[in-house]
Amino acid sequence: MSILSIDTRRANAEDAFGISGVHDASWKQAYTGLIPHKALQTMIRRRDPKWWERAISHSTRILVLESMGQIVGYATLGSNRVATLPQQGEIYELYLLPEYQGIGLGKRLFLAARKELAALNLKGCVVWVLEENDPAVAFYLNAGGTEIAEGNETFSGKTLQKKAFAWN
Ligand SMILES: CC(C)(COP(=O)(O)OP(=O)(O)OC[C@H]1O[C@@H](n2cnc3c(N)ncnc32)[C@H](O)[C@@H]1OP(=O)(O)O)[C@@H](O)C(=O)NCCC(=O)NCCS
Repeated sequence: MSILSIDTRRANAEDAFGISGVHDASWKQAYTGLIPHKALQTMIRRRDPKWWERAISHSTRILVLESMGQIVGYATLGSNRVATLPQQGEIYELYLLPEYQGIGLGKRLFLAARKELAALNLKGCVVWVLEENDPAVAFYLNAGGTEIAEGNETFSGKTLQKKAFAWN
């Protein structure tokens, strides 16, 4: 019997390549057919390992999920970007490789990100999700999030609705 050992920890410079790979695969899976092809390609190309290396060395908090030396998920977090919302923290991104989804690891990374926000003394947490990203919406509802705001974002001329879930 093989045992899948999974570790959640803060990212370091050596993780840039692995995070970039998770970003590429998970964004393609989540957003193909939703975000226009060209805009999606541009966003993915921009987030190359160099981009992640800079993000890790700057102030962005990044957590990774590591399995047997491979980065299989990441989360980025920090201060809430929308001043009108009372929650102080925000999880900006939470993404897992497709083959590692649906086995409890998203929940584990989400809880680790919440813990990290608390350690930063940021009270409450917000997550923005594209409304048509059904699996993610279901995940955050299941995690006890309350829908508190709506917005939209335009990608290559296509406007998509998004909503914010909050935890206090
Ligand atoms: C969204 C995502 C992070 C969730 O992680 P995951 O590992 O697949 O989810 P988990 O296996 O940890 O599920 C945790 C709980 O949510 C529930 N859940 C997960 N996906 C669900 C879905 N599509 N529908 C209903 N419930 C769901 C699980 O049943 C589980 O419930 P439980 O705790 O009561 O047993 C992951 O699927 C992912 O990376 N998706 C693509 C990228 C994405 O859309 N990210 C979010 C952008 S804002």
